[in-house]
Amino acid sequence: MNRRQAFRRLLGFAAASPLLAQQAPSEEDVNGPVNVHEFEEIAKKKLDKLAYDFIAGGVEDELTLRANREAFQHWYLIPRVLTDVSQVDMSTELFGVRIPQPILVAPTGGKNLIAPNAETLVAKACARTQTLFCTGSGAERALEDEGEVNWWSNTVGQATREAAMSYARRMEDRGAKAITLTVDNQYQSNRDRNNRNRFDYGYMGTGLPKPGQPPPPPRNPARPAMWQPHTPNLTWDYIDWVRGATNLPVILKGILAPEDAELAVRRGASGIIVSNHGGRQLDGVIATIDALPDVADAVGGKVPVLMDGGIRRGSDILKALALGAKAVLVGRPPLWGLAAFGQAGVERVLWMLGAELKLSMALAGKPNLAAIDRKMVRRLG
Ligand SMILES: Cc1cc2nc3c(=O)[nH]c(=O)nc-3n(C[C@H](O)[C@H](O)[C@H](O)COP(=O)(O)O)c2cc1C
Repeated sequence: MNRRQAFRRLLGFAAASPLLAQQAPSEEDVNGPVNVHEFEEIAKKKLDKLAYDFIAGGVEDELTLRANREAFQHWYLIPRVLTDVSQVDMSTELFGVRIPQPILVAPTGGKNLIAPNAETLVAKACARTQTLFCTGSGAERALEDEGEVNWWSNTVGQATREAAMSYARRMEDRGAKAITLTVDNQYQSNRDRNNRNRFDYGYMGTGLPKPGQPPPPPRNPARPAMWQPHTPNLTWDYIDWVRGATNLPVILKGILAPEDAELAVRRGASGIIVSNHGGRQLDGVIATIDALPDVADAVGGKVPVLMDGGIRRGSDILKALALGAKAVLVGRPPLWGLAAFGQAGVERVLWMLGAELKLSMALAGKPNLAAIDRKMVRRLG
């Protein structure tokens, strides 16, 4: 333990005031965790239980949440040898934006539960690491001072054509590089952890009530809710609505069925994200890494396919790329970095995943993304 850590421990800062600890983490602190899982352990200690459960949790029995991770264990890599991997290039391009590694930050609402300016901190971390940032619904304002960050707006859609067109124009004016439409969020899902904690979805905007203060009047309590609509009337026409208003690419997030992937391409979607919302919407749906190959086949290279769900290691990313993803998104990992060490933690998590991917590519004999193909993975068991 260095002097600074000893001093902090003496004052009980790290335990008593996570925000203070977040503002000035030492390099040693940030470099402490050796993998994403360890960032989660630190985050869990620092976060209020309500916030940790909201972020970590899935829906109902969390079958899909677990499946997203476990399915990676069934996919095995088959490396090639004696190829020159003294240089490894992970860079790629998405809708005109060049990124140094095929890892995006997924949209996550409720970052306020971690810190009041969380969206801005993540945007800054993305700017510093040249990571494409998908903003949580309604959080685009955090980006106004972060001109250098490339971002995609995220929405559950608007109920009318006029509202969708006006949203799309607003996002284009603000500088979004694409619109991601989340298509698996028609209703608020049934999350046992939030129900048990009497979580109020209003906290996603306001943050948690401060200790000793009375909670704000309930706005959107999790528990009695079993039928809270977001935009349940949306259909494929949404793509036409947006394309009538802007030239921004429209990327559909939450596709699992190959039939939907085909339809999406036919109806003019510019990209697809294979996602089950991190196991947070319909429990029991297929793990994303298992859904990916069929979706990629159905799309047949006509538009980029991305995926998210359960990515915690560089080798997970390598498997996703091999099964047809052009890039992946990570949802919880940057939040663990943020909760553990603020902006520096987010940067470290993004760096770590990239570094692991680079090494995994090298050890698999793949000097660049074009060298990665389906032949290098097999599902066993
Ligand atoms: C706390 C939290 C909030 C989320 N909010 C949104 C959201 O507002 N819109 C959305 O499309 N997906 C949302 N997601 C899902 C993520 O975009 C992503 O699909 C998922 O987290 C990927 O799984 P992973 O966390 O295992 O990486 C959220 C996920 C978490 C953990």
